[in-house]
Amino acid sequence: MNIIITGGAGFIGSALVRFLVQQENTTVLNIDKLTYAGNLSSLQDVADAPNYRFMQTDICNAAALRQAFTDFQPDLVMHLAAESNVDRSINAPAAFIQTNIVGTYTLLETARSYYETLNGEKKQRFRFHHISTDEVFGSLDANGSFTETSPYRPRSPYSASKAGSDHLVKAWFHTYGVPVVITNCSNNYGPYQFPEKLIPLLILNALEHKPLPMYGKGDNVRDWLYVEDHVRAIVLAAAQGKVGETYTIGGRCEKTNLEVAEAVCSVLDEKRRRKHGSYRDLITFVADRPGHDQRYAIDPVRIETELGWKAEVDFETGIVRTVDWYLENETWWKPIREQKYSGERLGAYQK
Ligand code: NAD
Ligand code: DAU
Repeated sequence: MNIIITGGAGFIGSALVRFLVQQENTTVLNIDKLTYAGNLSSLQDVADAPNYRFMQTDICNAAALRQAFTDFQPDLVMHLAAESNVDRSINAPAAFIQTNIVGTYTLLETARSYYETLNGEKKQRFRFHHISTDEVFGSLDANGSFTETSPYRPRSPYSASKAGSDHLVKAWFHTYGVPVVITNCSNNYGPYQFPEKLIPLLILNALEHKPLPMYGKGDNVRDWLYVEDHVRAIVLAAAQGKVGETYTIGGRCEKTNLEVAEAVCSVLDEKRRRKHGSYRDLITFVADRPGHDQRYAIDPVRIETELGWKAEVDFETGIVRTVDWYLENETWWKPIREQKYSGERLGAYQK
């Protein structure tokens, strides 16, 4: 099985690559532009594996993609490459439109032309799996949860661009018959996450005794999923999901941001005691994110019942694993904090 993964040097993509390279009869081609969020040191464990290849390319580069498809002859494309940070999308939306919409369009067109050259078993087997987010469904109040039939109501430049990409993928299925599967997942956390996202930002700021910023009242709710559970879900959806269908993925693990910050502080208080007081003393309420979605929650019943997937790592276990990983892997995050992003506020915007 030949699998193209786009965005394989990112947080979720690298976890997926590390998982797939260990599977038998699987060869992976990782196509990644290596933006600020892409990091080949997340792939050190697999870099020399005989069934792993890497190509540094922008998914907007149609000629390079065409060549890659012709040479590699994929059976499956798992599309994760994206600009993924909501706060950066508020400051500078152009890259989000370019990669998430134009890039997805370019990849879809490449896949369509390639699919039309296939026949027999190879054609039957081919899938284009688009990895998307629950943010396309907008903001929930205290009740209800997102399902596969929730209406699209994106509210940030990031989520609007991901919604656009979902619509393109569905259009290429209905219009051209490209065999697609779409998954929409909730917030992931775990090792190798770029420290612009809440959990690694809290861990690294705490280790440097810097403020732990809580947007607004810290009462926004996210539905957390350990990244390896997400990887198992998408591998299953790509292999067994129904063509043209969507699966929502989530860990049944809703937490306010303040609860998340307190959990991180509790683990750190135990593992790396401060000289005076608790890491909680660093929690600081700051100006809210503009257009901040109040609550996300996924109802994952479809993927649980139809495909037999279930989140296995509960938050209490996952957060300890994650904090431990950052404590033990300073060589991974130190260059990022020093050279790429040191934790300053992103996405502040005066309406
Ligand atoms: P990430 O920002 O860590 O990684 C994105 C990767 O895409 C990077 O390696 C980057 O170099 C690459 N990339 C960016 N633009 C590119 C381009 N034009 N061409 C080629 N490569 C490019 O993102 P992530 O958190 O791993 O998310 C991966 C995917 O999963 C995204 O599509 C995101 O929308 C989706 N998703 C993320 C979460 C989450 O909580 N992180 C939840 C649900 C869905
Ligand atoms: O829901 C899935 C999405 O989750 C993915 O599609 C995105 O790629 C991913 O970035 C994530 O988006 P969020 O905006 O939910 O994640 P972020 O880590 O930026 O923020 C999580 C919550 O924490 C959110 O309510 C904003 C808040 N926050 C974030 C930061 C960085 C803070 O209160 N303080 C902070 O410093």
